[in-house]
Amino acid sequence: MKKVLISGIQPTARPHIGNYFGAMKQFVDLQDEYESNIFIAEYHALTTVQDSATLHSNIEELILDYLAIGIDPNKATLFKQSSVPQVTELTWILNCLTPIPYLERAHAFKDKVAKGKIASMGLFDYPILMAADILLPEAEVVPVGQDQKQHVEMARELAQKFNNTFGETFKAPKELILEEVAIVPGLDGQKMSKSYGNTIPLFAEKEEIEKLAMSVVTSSTPKGEPIDHITDNIFKLHKLVSTKEELSELNEAYMNGSIGYKASKELLAQRLERFISPMRERRKEIAKDPENVKKILKEGGEKMYIRYETKMKEVRKAVGLV
Ligand code: AQP
Repeated sequence: MKKVLISGIQPTARPHIGNYFGAMKQFVDLQDEYESNIFIAEYHALTTVQDSATLHSNIEELILDYLAIGIDPNKATLFKQSSVPQVTELTWILNCLTPIPYLERAHAFKDKVAKGKIASMGLFDYPILMAADILLPEAEVVPVGQDQKQHVEMARELAQKFNNTFGETFKAPKELILEEVAIVPGLDGQKMSKSYGNTIPLFAEKEEIEKLAMSVVTSSTPKGEPIDHITDNIFKLHKLVSTKEELSELNEAYMNGSIGYKASKELLAQRLERFISPMRERRKEIAKDPENVKKILKEGGEKMYIRYETKMKEVRKAVGLV
């Protein structure tokens, strides 16, 4: 029996290479090893996207993104979160087990509030909905970036709390985070984030890639002087899309001062384009058959509905809602 894997992306904006290397690439790499379930997290997205046309179009785009990176619907189940409304029901039950100070500790929530965002109840409750997403399909493996580590820990603790209160019901999930891409930096060196405006979109066109590569923030080392590859933002991005040999050559050139920031950025643009263009072209092909894309989502949703409902029946019984 394969272990169950689950993860999702919010249809909030175009996914970026931070989302890809931090999480989405693992969806593809692990689809043979695990029983993989990958969803579009539109209930989560409602905490920020509150326009129906935008949300609808973001959902349609994200399914194309999933297919274009190589998620195979014959291996992994692709579905929309709203196809399994049981997650909102479990969220309520878990809410009733969760002390407010416990949720107030969530880093993602604290960061957003610190950046001036007025928190809705939805944003505050985000980790509980995420716990419901993970616990209902009895997932044991959750590939995510570092920023989601605490949320998966919370799901694990909530599973334990539920089991202690109502009897053994849920499995304990564990995050799967790849250390070297746990926090992919953005153009400004901070974590690449949709909301920071520092992203390289995963399906960017060539001209956009060139423009973005030229805008990477650097220090002011004069041309001809050695550049410190450890702190240089361009080098950090090179690491994602270069071969080992290319990296060691670049490192050498940084050390002996034979390459400046401009040339390194031009090289980065070429390597980003080399990495992005095959997926971008595949995405255009997939988009030509919208009926097939709809069918994949519908079938995935129907399959997962049965699964979530079966577990939810067990939960209702455990808490006394029969
Ligand atoms: N910079 C990153 N490095 C590594 N992993 C990352 N993830 C996000 N940014 C990075 C991971 O991508 C997955 C998708 O999560 P999401 O759709 O919920 O997106 P998010 O966390 O809202 O993405 P952003 O860009 O970070 O958005 P904002 O600015 O809204 O917070 C998750 O597994 C996440 O860890």
